Parts: sequence; structure tokens; C-alpha cells
Amino acid sequence: MSDEQKKLEDLLKQLQLNNGNGPKINAEPVRGTNDFKFWKTQPVTSLEEEVTEEGPIDKPKKPEDISDKTLPMLAEFEWTTVDIEDNEQLEDVFVLLNENYVEDRDSEFRFNYTKEFFKWALKCPGWNKDWNVGVRVKNTGKLIAFISAIPVTLRVRSNIIKSVEINFLCVHKQLRAKRLAPVLIKEITRRVNKTDIWQALYTGGAILPSPIATCRYTHRPLNWNKLCDVGFTALPSNSTNAEMVAKYTLPKVTATPGLRVMEEKDIEETLRLFNRYQERFELVQNFTKEEFHHWFLGGLDSTSSKDSNVIYSYVIEDKDGKITDFFSFYSLPFSILNHSVHKDLGIGYLFYYASDADFNYAERYNEEATSKLKKRLDLIIRDACILANNSKMDVFNALTSQDNALFLDDLKFGSGDGFLNFYLFNYKAFPIHGGLLSNKSNDVEKRSNLGIVML
Ligand SMILES: CC(C)(COP(=O)(O)OP(=O)(O)OC[C@H]1O[C@@H](n2cnc3c(N)ncnc32)[C@H](O)[C@@H]1OP(=O)(O)O)[C@@H](O)C(=O)NCCC(=O)NCCS
Repeated sequence: MSDEQKKLEDLLKQLQLNNGNGPKINAEPVRGTNDFKFWKTQPVTSLEEEVTEEGPIDKPKKPEDISDKTLPMLAEFEWTTVDIEDNEQLEDVFVLLNENYVEDRDSEFRFNYTKEFFKWALKCPGWNKDWNVGVRVKNTGKLIAFISAIPVTLRVRSNIIKSVEINFLCVHKQLRAKRLAPVLIKEITRRVNKTDIWQALYTGGAILPSPIATCRYTHRPLNWNKLCDVGFTALPSNSTNAEMVAKYTLPKVTATPGLRVMEEKDIEETLRLFNRYQERFELVQNFTKEEFHHWFLGGLDSTSSKDSNVIYSYVIEDKDGKITDFFSFYSLPFSILNHSVHKDLGIGYLFYYASDADFNYAERYNEEATSKLKKRLDLIIRDACILANNSKMDVFNALTSQDNALFLDDLKFGSGDGFLNFYLFNYKAFPIHGGLLSNKSNDVEKRSNLGIVML
């Protein structure tokens, strides 16, 4: 047995004994200077490379060139295809992600994934059962790693790319830094390649070879007192609580005339408006009508309560019955660990939106076009914050992507600590502006050329 396998066996024993609650071993990946041992074997742009031409990296292959066999796995573990329609298997994914996915530094908060969220995020039109890949401990069945893919059609500038989005990559904390992630990535690549798809989009906080865009997270407090109570945010030294409450208090009633919940009958018209709006961006997801329906109206099923709604979509209809704007946000709450009063924190994430406010101008950066769009976005995204607040969300998050830099400061979104990098697998692309200046503040003038939002 190699040293690596021996270490893994020891860890495995602890994992079985402790059932996830014991001492945390190697909770963080241990890494020195990174020479990207794995990533440098993959078709991705290296960090120092300057892209001179856009397009696929690997020579074209055929699905029959790809092995039918799963990648070799250590003897103690086995591959599993997680059936997300089976509640017990879905529960295994929740437990893994809720206990091991991205967490704050002091472990005070954890994502609280729900069945409704997964149905929305993973069961989009064209979803493939084989693309929910897990690893289990052979003799206990415990799920210790997961990765997923969903089909998407991307547009990178003028090129349309049949692709997947990779999400929810997670390795149990006690098995980190053991090179399991590369095996998961290779296995999902194999399964996706088998269906004749060769490109992928993925995001992450980590710097890997090579981001095509980098955005920053911003946060708009809705319920200041609660955010402060639970330690999500701290009172600035030169302010009082009352001042902060006054600063962030929103009315209960929205201000945009004609604002209403988006309905089935709005799908076609809203998709047309959305497609036209998205033309300005360099990287977008193209939605079919069916996909648009799923992503904007597909949050609940017949067994869900209204409280478990995931996606909130609204349109603005003018007095002639024309839809002029639309916006959406999704809900992904945190559980609060060890707090005597509060058990969860409601979090809204700005998703997609569109407005016809600058459609009469050929040039996006024209002064008048900018001023019209800014005025409109200030109004409708403020309403989005009001609606999120009315739906018991405590904070509203947005990235610096899309045209967001136009409203972030005015609507009191504060810059967060987190950055999100966007990556393309097997595709070279020129960099795309993520809405940040070189000092990492919002680029109000250029905004962003990134028109895609990933969960
Ligand atoms: C991300 C995660 C799966 C990586 O696992 P790990 O045990 O730390 O790392 P491993 O030893 O298995 O693999 C290391 C390799 O994976 C790469 N890697 C690490 N995080 C990655 C990510 N988010 N996406 C792609 N590759 C990643 C590393 O760069 C390294 O490759 P390299 O040698 O070419 O640099 C793990 O840290 C985790 O579950 N984190 C919490 C959830 C999370 O952050 N998921 C990603 C969300 S974007």
C-alpha cells in the first residue's frame, strides 16, 4: 500500500467513527506554491498565456473516442450516480453540501439547501441523470463527494457553444487535499463528452488557470438589526445602530407603476425583451422558451409550500399592456449555527433582469442611454429589494456583472470580501470585463460585459 493510500485509510477510519462530527482534519486544502499539477494537464488557458484567437483548445473528438468506463477509484470508495428524484439520495447530497460546502471562516453560517432549490438548480430542461456524480464509502454508503452538470447553450461574443455548467463540486472536509477533486472533474468530463459536449462553464473563488472574468460580491442589508445580531455584519465604529437601521429601511410598497408577478402568459414577450437586452454582453446563456419557463417560473412543485419558493420573477407592464422590464431573484438561505434566537438568515440573490430603457440608442455607453437605464434600474432593483424584504429575506446579494455597477452604489449595496471567477473548459476566450476597476471598486462607467449568472 502506498503512503497516500495508508493516509487515506486512516482518514477513512476516522470518518466512519466520527460520522462527520469529529475533529476536523485537513479542513482546508494544504497547498504551497501552486504549479497546477492537475490543471496543467487539462484543456484550459494557462495563467501566463495571452489569448490571440478564440475557440476550442482540444482537437475535435467523437463520443466513441471516449472511454465507456468510469475512472479508477480507490478501493475504499465507489462511484455513484445520485438519483436526485429519490428523496433519500437527495438527502445525502444535502447533508454533504450543508456540512461541507462553502462556509464562512468562523463556521457560524451554512447554506440551507432544500429539495425545491435542487429541483430548480439541477432538473432544468435536458438535464441528464448521469451528470449527478457522487463518491460513496463502500462499506457504509456515506456520500463523501459530489459534482454536477447541467446543459446550457452559451454565446461567447458571436459564437454559440453547446456546453454544460458545472456546479456543487464538493469533497468532504476530512478527505480534502487528497486529489479527489481532479478525479471528479475528469469523471464528469468523461460523462459529458460521451454526449458530444466538449465545453464547460464553471465558477469559483479560487484562482485557477485562467479566469475569463472576475466579479465581486456586493450585499444590500435589508434587516440591519438581525444581520448585526447574528454577526453577519458589524456596526461601523462611527455609526449608531439607529443610523444604520434608518439608512437601510425600505418601504413595504413598491414604486414602479405596472409592476406585477411574472406569469405563464408573459413568457414569450419577456424572453424577447430579455434576448434583446442580453445582446450587449459578451458571455450569455441562450434560453429556449422551455428553459426560460423553468428558470423563471419553475421554483415550486405541487408538494411545495409557498414559503419554500426559490425563484421570484416580476415584470413591468405599461398602460398599453407591453412588458417594458423584468427582474428576478432567487432565495438560498443560510442556517445560523448556535444562536439562541435566530435559526436562519434569508438571502436573496439578484438573478437576471432586462429593461427597454436604452433600446432606442445604438450605443450602450451613450450618455443619455446610460442615464435612462440607470434611472430605470435604480427604480426596479430597489423594488426587487423591497419585494425580497417583504419575502423575509435579510440581505440581498448581487455581483458586479451585467449593468449592475449602474445601481449598486445608489441602492446601498456594499462591496463584499468575496470575488467570483468565471472559467471556460476547453475554450480560449479573450478576457471579459467583470465590472471592476483595477482597485476592485465598481466600474460605473464601463459596467460589465458578463451577462451570465451562475448559482
Ligand atoms: C473545491 C474542493 C472540492 C477541492 O477539493 P480539495 O480536496 O481541496 O482538493 P484536491 O486535493 O482534491 O484537488 C486539488 C486540485 O483541485 C483544484 N481545485 C481546487 N478547488 C477547485 C475548484 N473550485 N474548481 C476546480 N478545481 C479546483 C486545485 O487547484 C488542485 O488542482 P491543481 O493541482 O491543478 O492546482 C474542496 O475544497 C471543497 O469541497 N470545498 C468546499 C466547496 C467548494 O468550495 N466548492 C467549489 C465551489 S466553486
